[in-house]
Amino acid sequence: MRPVEDEGCEGHGDLLERGARRLEWARDHMPVLGRVRRRLSKEGALRGVRVGMALHVEAKTGQLALALAEAGADVRLASCNPLSTDDSVATALRESRSLPVFARRGEGHDEYYRNLDSVLDMRPNVVVDDGGDLTQILHTRRRDLLADVWGGCEETTTGVVRLRAMAREGALAYAVMDVNDAMMKHMFDNRYGTGQSTLDGIMAATNLLLAGKRVVVAGYGWCGRGIAMRCRGMGALVTVSEVDPVRAVEALMDGMDVAPMREAIAHADIVVTATGCAGVVGAEDLKVAKDGVVLANAGHFNVEVDQAALAGMARETRQVRENVVRYTLADGRRLDLVAEGRLVNLAAGQGHPVEIMDLSFALQALAVEHVVRNRGRLEPRVHPLPAAFDDEVARAFLEARSARIDALNQSQRDYLGGWREGT
Ligand code: NAI
Repeated sequence: MRPVEDEGCEGHGDLLERGARRLEWARDHMPVLGRVRRRLSKEGALRGVRVGMALHVEAKTGQLALALAEAGADVRLASCNPLSTDDSVATALRESRSLPVFARRGEGHDEYYRNLDSVLDMRPNVVVDDGGDLTQILHTRRRDLLADVWGGCEETTTGVVRLRAMAREGALAYAVMDVNDAMMKHMFDNRYGTGQSTLDGIMAATNLLLAGKRVVVAGYGWCGRGIAMRCRGMGALVTVSEVDPVRAVEALMDGMDVAPMREAIAHADIVVTATGCAGVVGAEDLKVAKDGVVLANAGHFNVEVDQAALAGMARETRQVRENVVRYTLADGRRLDLVAEGRLVNLAAGQGHPVEIMDLSFALQALAVEHVVRNRGRLEPRVHPLPAAFDDEVARAFLEARSARIDALNQSQRDYLGGWREGT
């Protein structure tokens, strides 16, 4: 599996150069992170701090890692997903920026965990996680390292769900900043970022038309809303499957059809899961799926489509495109799975647009700084990001777009703050 740009028969030098170009492009389009980076670097805010990161290894993440390093941190980076690594960026970070990166596109299960261990070998003070794998390892087989950890930051919904479960059981050993639930993260990254890049991934993988297709989106959370909205914008007929009645009402009122997966998949040309749950497309659903259906996942882990069931039902399995495997069932129906059921936007596309990650990673940098500045003062639980971070990032983004807003004057503040008659 390779990213979408033409990179066949590429030598090491070309790989390095392409990675450097991608890093430069990302840097040019990340003004908000740039602003945070300049301040942190001027203040040497992270001098001597060991930061262990497991994020999707590509150009935008590279810029976050470089920003933390520029602020004085000792940084190591692994991937949080075996299929999302951009080897050119990993090479450029290692060789031209001297940043230790432990990741390779297509790494197997054992290599994936070895790479996470290599990051942990640095005995991190701050752990930057996406999906919670570093955190999980630290709390199970590498507990000896916990004494050195001051705190962590979590990037995605699935990771936060895991952390909350740990905190509920009193198992969380250090404070973790919940970057995902900051408004300037999930409202834009999960919705607009996943919306655009999921379609980008599906289109790159399949080269199929969306207009007039029946697309089923499983989950109408932040990601699902974005995907459904963008599919409709491309002319698809969208059905949403949900388990939460309120979210289902929202989907209906947004003009989507709503139906259980079992019913919807029988007519679906494309199914996209975005729930963070497992077995969302299960064996019983696969039994009635329409011939030719494209199955893709945008949720964090590759468990939303039941691949064991799919493999068990198939009489033939064949790679039909670079990122598409066709399962032909006994009755002749063909079900096409994109990117092994992993995050389609990263495994088959280029990940979120740069400007989206500018916001998310500016928040990540601020969250790392927060952990460092509050060392020893944060309780071991999941902490929301201070609201001031949303404000800072939003204002920097508006400034970068040359968009200005109004400010309340004193009498408006008095009016909004008053409750007596006549105020
Ligand atoms: P969310 O919590 O806002 O939404 C999830 C929705 O799925 C909820 O409405 C829930 O009711 C629904 N759901 C849960 N189980 C279901 C089931 N079995 N069938 C149908 N619906 C079900 O979460 P969010 O932020 O939308 O994230 C969803 C997943 O996407 C997570 O795994 C998250 O980590 C991941 N994610 C992926 C990104 C990407 O780049 N592809 C970016 C951000 C998040």
